[in-house]
Amino acid sequence: MKNRNVLWIALLGATLTAGLAGSAWSDDDYRKFKKGMRGGPDVAKAENPAYVKECGSCHFAYQPGFLPSESWIKLMAGLADHFGDNAELAPEDQKSITDYLTANSADKSGQKAAVKIMKSIKTSQPPLRITQTPYFVHEHREIPLKLYKDNPKVKSLSHCNRCHVNAGEGSFNEHEVNIPGVGRWED
Ligand code: HEC
Ligand code: HEC
Repeated sequence: MKNRNVLWIALLGATLTAGLAGSAWSDDDYRKFKKGMRGGPDVAKAENPAYVKECGSCHFAYQPGFLPSESWIKLMAGLADHFGDNAELAPEDQKSITDYLTANSADKSGQKAAVKIMKSIKTSQPPLRITQTPYFVHEHREIPLKLYKDNPKVKSLSHCNRCHVNAGEGSFNEHEVNIPGVGRWED
């Protein structure tokens, strides 16, 4: 009897190990698990290489799902004076990036943050900034100015990835916030 129990335990162990090795987790699942990402992404990841390269050099490459098509069209038409900077592109990049942004914009995405942004704005007055949409303002209203504006490691709320450690993955969960020089956000 005793020996049989030992055998069962050994068998169970082997089955569990085999089960784990052949588990249904994709690499992506595993990465999310490792990063502690909670509840899945809020917007789809920005995956277009030209976009990430050209529009992610001065600041975080904002996911297209954060603004409606109208906003992206307006932004892309004014790159010569882009918030005081010149962000002009070669014509082929200008077209491919505009196509990418408008195909994946907030009005076309069903993901959490995109839906909330769309509900909070009027597309007849397309916002040029994510940080000025009512949804964004509402979500960040409790953060004292001194934690970002007067914080040289953050400077402005436009630098999403300085606080949202999984921003690049499209995950903006409040439990994944770490404000540089301040620490984790607990409310
Ligand atoms: C030469 C630097 C530079 C490049 C390149 C650049 N930007 Fe910007 N962008 C800025 C600056 C500066 C701001 C204002 C940031 C601030 O207020 O802190 C900004 C702000 C933005 C904002 C508003 C962020 C907010 O506050 O919600 C969006 C959206 C944006 N850029 C999109 C783009 C897109 C799309 C591209 C690529 C076509 C691009 N940017 C390329 C410099 C740049
Ligand atoms: C100074 C650090 C900081 C910066 C920079 C910042 N955020 Fe946040 N964000 C926070 C904190 C803290 C919260 C949670 C606030 C609360 O719960 O009161 C939050 C909440 C959010 C939420 C809601 C998350 C949820 O769980 O419902 C979204 C979406 C979000 N941020 C997107 C962005 C985007 C996009 C940018 C850049 C344009 C950005 N944030 C920049 C600190 C920051």
